[in-house]
Amino acid sequence: MDTTNTRGQFSNKLGFVLAAAGSSVGLGNIWRFPYYTAKYGGAAFILVYVLVAVTIGFTLVATEIAIGRKTSLSPIPAYRKLCAKFAFLGLFADLAAAIITPYYSVIGGWVIKYFKEFLVGNVSGAASDGFFGEFISGNFQPALYLAIFTLLGGIVIFGGVEKGIEKVNKIMMPTLVVMIVGLSIYGLTLPGAMEGLEFLLVPDFSKITPMAFIAATGQMFYSLSIAMGILVTYGSYMQKKDDLAQATLQIEIFDTAVAILAAVMIIPPIFAVSPNMAQDLSAAGPGLMFVTLPKLFAIMPGGRVVGAFFFFLVLLAALTSSISLMEAILSPLVDGYKISRNKAATYTIGWTFVIGMLSVFGYGIWSDFTIFGLQILDFMDFISNYVLMPITAFGTAILIGWILGPKTVTDEIERSSETFRRKPLYNFTIRYLVPVATMFIMVMHILATFGVVTL
Ligand code: PHE
Repeated sequence: MDTTNTRGQFSNKLGFVLAAAGSSVGLGNIWRFPYYTAKYGGAAFILVYVLVAVTIGFTLVATEIAIGRKTSLSPIPAYRKLCAKFAFLGLFADLAAAIITPYYSVIGGWVIKYFKEFLVGNVSGAASDGFFGEFISGNFQPALYLAIFTLLGGIVIFGGVEKGIEKVNKIMMPTLVVMIVGLSIYGLTLPGAMEGLEFLLVPDFSKITPMAFIAATGQMFYSLSIAMGILVTYGSYMQKKDDLAQATLQIEIFDTAVAILAAVMIIPPIFAVSPNMAQDLSAAGPGLMFVTLPKLFAIMPGGRVVGAFFFFLVLLAALTSSISLMEAILSPLVDGYKISRNKAATYTIGWTFVIGMLSVFGYGIWSDFTIFGLQILDFMDFISNYVLMPITAFGTAILIGWILGPKTVTDEIERSSETFRRKPLYNFTIRYLVPVATMFIMVMHILATFGVVTL
């Protein structure tokens, strides 16, 4: 059987890199990176982040892409082919994708809602106290927007790898970059913005605590879409001749550049428009995006247009990530059950919506229901990011670094890359740094979730 034709393939390296960058650049870049940067010493945090990205991040991204490309399979059969005992890592990765996709899509729906509010000019409404809480507890509306977001991503995965995923990313990713650069420049022209830029770019090394390292590493895993089966899946669609080492570097640069730009886009305007808010940059996640920023847009000059552009940009970022997540659910179905792509896409859409509804109700009619003190959405986030993901990354490092040997991956990289300068670094990182870092991340985040430490 010619697997290339039935599984689909990216047409070239650019197509692959933009799709993988589309997966990487997402809500994490926009709602957590700026917050961490503000909290952990500005440029000092950026430095730490880059350090972990070019070592641990690079190693795991290259490893996963290589595993996918070497086997031309989705995660479970790919890991099984490498070593039957480790097939469970593929299962964990697929499970993480299956858990994240629905709640990520719920948030994607919220983004569409805010985009719509700014588009129709309901700025003061969107910025009013209680608006967000009322919206997410409303059951019907969040469900409706979840359905819209899921269908938008669904249409793309129906289109296939080249005609769907690649094509859409080739349009959306450059658009996103232009918009984020444009909004950053606009923000910097506001009087008072320079103070914010200074706060961001002057490193405060006193804030570089062990916690800053943990935050940077956890953020890097999420931001690069590591250990979710995505890079293995996308790697399985990559052409054998495309330079894997270079592609990995480009994905890292893209993702990190957008994260830094997001900080430049968000922090200086806060300083310019509302020094009070700048005092309290404590919001990360939904609080920053759906409460703080709308309030900012309501008082900043041109806020309605800026807000509409902003939420459109976030929508692009979320959509390209969710497409990769949906593909990571679809691909194992096609490989494992030999069903058609269309059928698998339909199941994926159905799963995303139905399980997404659990999160919707978690904020609505079931808001009293918590698991270990966590709301349903937060619980799903916790299990996937801080349990499944570290175990998958840890296991992958043990499998490649110690059982099969780094050569399994470096040979695959070298068949397409003339120069693989980071090979010595790779060999070291996969064997030592990754296992230590992943275990540490897991323990610390579990402690943080239960309030023993704060991140
Ligand atoms: N990397 C994406 C972000 O930064 C999120 C994501 C995580 C996407 C896992 C796919 C898989 O938001």
